[in-house]
Amino acid sequence: MKTRRILQPAKAAKTTGILTNAKMIIRKAKKEDLNDLAGLHIHLIRQIQKCKPWKYCVAKTTVAYFKKKILKLFKNKDASIDVAEEDGKIIGYSIGIVKNYPSFINFKKYGELYEVSINPKFRGGGIGPKLAKRTLEFFKSKNVEIAEALVDNKNIIALKTWKKLGFKEDLFVLLKKLKSKK
Ligand SMILES: CC(C)(COP(=O)(O)OP(=O)(O)OC[C@H]1O[C@@H](n2cnc3c(N)ncnc32)[C@H](O)[C@@H]1OP(=O)(O)O)[C@@H](O)C(=O)NCCC(=O)NCCS
Repeated sequence: MKTRRILQPAKAAKTTGILTNAKMIIRKAKKEDLNDLAGLHIHLIRQIQKCKPWKYCVAKTTVAYFKKKILKLFKNKDASIDVAEEDGKIIGYSIGIVKNYPSFINFKKYGELYEVSINPKFRGGGIGPKLAKRTLEFFKSKNVEIAEALVDNKNIIALKTWKKLGFKEDLFVLLKKLKSKK
């Protein structure tokens, strides 16, 4: 049977609504967290790879690409990266980016819940929603009225989690596999 280290306190937190694990803090990410963030990003990809193996993979360039993106976001005042830390270890992150809508949309800007990833050992304890709520608060502080999250249609856990936070289905992305001419 799979063991999960914080299952008991995390589950207790869910039922009581109080996070009993006093050692867990949520704070803004720092440049020194970059390697930990990259590790969690790989966990995210592994998860979506399980949902849709023909589409997702961890490539040689994945970590470098992600780190470059994060370093750019650190300089962006319209982006926010929050991390959950327990005993000095980063166990999850949430990234939000404020973006502009095109002019035919009734809202000027939106907040993209860009990525949330929780270390697999710590999933199921409500940390993901807690981090995501922090990102939504950041959007509100930027006067953003709409939050968007792009989620793979097979990532059932993420879909369920964001719907619990009030997200509703909106756009459908349609894919069609084409035969290469090569
Ligand atoms: C989606 C995700 C952020 C949710 O975070 P979380 O902290 O696990 O959220 P919750 O604790 O509320 O649990 C959500 C659901 O996960 C499931 N879950 C419970 N224990 C779990 C475990 N050990 N492992 C995986 N999923 C578990 C449950 O179905 C739970 O729903 P429930 O509360 O109705 O039972 C997290 O699962 C994750 O990091 N997934 C991989 C990355 C990803 O898909 N990110 C979202 C797309 S950007």
